Amino acid sequence: METAKLTLRGKEYDLPVSEGTEGEVSIDIAALRSKSGAITMDPGYGNTGSCSSAITFIDGEQGILRYRGYAIEELAEKSTFIEVAYLLIYGQLPNTTELSSFKDTVTRHSLIHEDLRKMIEMYPSSAHPMGVLSAMISSLTAFYPAENYNSNVETNIARLIAKIQTISAFFYKRSVGQPRVYPRNDLSYTGNLLNMMFSVPSENYHVSAILEDALDKLLILHADHEQNCSTSTVRMVGSSHANIFATMSAGIDALWGPLHGGANQEVITMLEHIRDDGQDYKKYMELAKNKNSGFKLMGFGHRVYKNFDPRAKILKAAADRVLNTLGIQDPLLDIAQNLERIALEDSYFVERKLYPNVDFYSGIIYKAMGIPISMFTVMFAIGRLPGWIAQWKELTSESNLRIYRPRQVYTGENVRPYIPIEQR
Ligand code: CMC
Repeated sequence: METAKLTLRGKEYDLPVSEGTEGEVSIDIAALRSKSGAITMDPGYGNTGSCSSAITFIDGEQGILRYRGYAIEELAEKSTFIEVAYLLIYGQLPNTTELSSFKDTVTRHSLIHEDLRKMIEMYPSSAHPMGVLSAMISSLTAFYPAENYNSNVETNIARLIAKIQTISAFFYKRSVGQPRVYPRNDLSYTGNLLNMMFSVPSENYHVSAILEDALDKLLILHADHEQNCSTSTVRMVGSSHANIFATMSAGIDALWGPLHGGANQEVITMLEHIRDDGQDYKKYMELAKNKNSGFKLMGFGHRVYKNFDPRAKILKAAADRVLNTLGIQDPLLDIAQNLERIALEDSYFVERKLYPNVDFYSGIIYKAMGIPISMFTVMFAIGRLPGWIAQWKELTSESNLRIYRPRQVYTGENVRPYIPIEQR
């Protein structure tokens, strides 16, 4: 067995080395503490492998992303979101019977309990939809008890994939004061979501094939991304044997943050700000480079991609195509393209290998589709759900699953006597 040698305070330790199927090398430090008393430090986990996984492969230097061995470019072009969800969760592309049975099961679970609908109605219409979504997904435990973390797994998976759309659309309708539109079993997955969001009783709404296809692609591109912040949260929470609904709800909360999935909302706000401020690119570039300004170029940079984000490449072309097909001229697309060009010529961004990420262009497409900014991260969550489920399934099927429990280096006070309140 290959080992790596570590010398610490004059003593040598042999650490097992392993290699993944794409040649990724890791040094196993699991036994280091018991042998040496030392732990490893890696704030932000930039260099820490928390698991082995057979789901998603990313090569950040070369801009490669594959689900179960299939290139993201090929899946985005040839597949559908429901097929990709099956691929991620069950490991193989489905045949015709498997796909139709999976679609059918998901479709038949799309209604939500009327009491859950009433709970959605209780939120202020101005609430952020991500908070409502997280609470409602967690609340599914009240309707479908899953005390045992691995009970009814397949049904609960179908329930989640189906009901996340209905919950999201019902709250959207509440936020705009329109009557709720119930799910329809004759529509595709994304067609159903668009219909629940945009049809109104007074109009004969037809789901546009262009929008249906564009949304399907967006969801495919978001479906998994190995051990990112929300997925690691899902694994962390799942490792305590929390039930599947509580675990997915935690993923939604982690995704909400502006450095993660919440960036898609922030990108549009930033582009609008630049537009309203006279498109002074120089000013915003300087602000982005100044660490004290509190301003970052949202939609730029990635922990893993250091060349380009393959999802952003697909979305940049898709944004052009969708806007052209819909006959929409959005000045924000020009501003985004100008900003990208200027940033990629600037040594600050070049040296730090900062490129547009998936969130840079996705918002422009959502906006063209009529989806309000506050719902952008919800779309990301709907797309990412099958990935979280696949990662949770992989985690909970491990025979030697251990609860996630990192260590720390304590830097606080040493032991000291308690001081009575009158002497403080
Ligand atoms: N604008 C300006 N400077 C940046 C940016 C940015 N968007 N991103 C990184 N930097 C700088 C950062 O200040 C640091 O500079 P220095 O080396 O001088 O200290 C350097 O680049 C490395 O950045 P980092 O913060 O150490 O990188 P990270 O891997 O910890 O963070 C990130 C990655 C995505 C959180 C960060 O790039 C960021 O905050 N980007 C903006 C938010 C965003 O678009 N998030 C969406 C990520 S993709 C969707 C998803 O999967 O979540």
